[in-house]
Amino acid sequence: MELLINLVVVLHLLGLAAIVGSAVFVARGVPTPALVWGARAQLVTGLVLVGLNQAADEPVDNTKIAVKLVVALAVAACAEIAAGRERRGQGRPELVHAAGGLAVLNTLVAVLWT
Ligand code: HEM
Repeated sequence: MELLINLVVVLHLLGLAAIVGSAVFVARGVPTPALVWGARAQLVTGLVLVGLNQAADEPVDNTKIAVKLVVALAVAACAEIAAGRERRGQGRPELVHAAGGLAVLNTLVAVLWT
């Protein structure tokens, strides 16, 4: 079980890298597939991690998880809306920046909320 949890944590960290790498470092202001799929992956892998930790009787901080879920939903909303607007030729770079910034915020919550 521990190996499985650690493997999903790796996927979770790759999702983080896809969002922040894409939004902040690579395609500033342009929504890439990596941004959109990274945001989706964070929701899926995060929820799987909660389930696996509970199944393994590991403690889960529900308040922290609730905050992370709300922030991750905001990241995904920003990424999806930015991608939709981009397809219609109405780019919204500020939404891409917001997705990257909120992902960094969620990283701070993940690491500093003890
Ligand atoms: C943009 C969205 C997200 C980012 C950037 C993010 C970031 C992170 C990071 C960096 C860690 C590793 C922290 C550490 O091990 O010290 C982590 C762990 C974790 N995240 Fe997220 N996260 C996001 C969304 C979510 C969501 C939506 C959930 C659940 C609803 C979630 C649940 C968890 C759990 C349970 C762990 C602990 C894994 C473990 O140690 O077993 N995350 N997250």
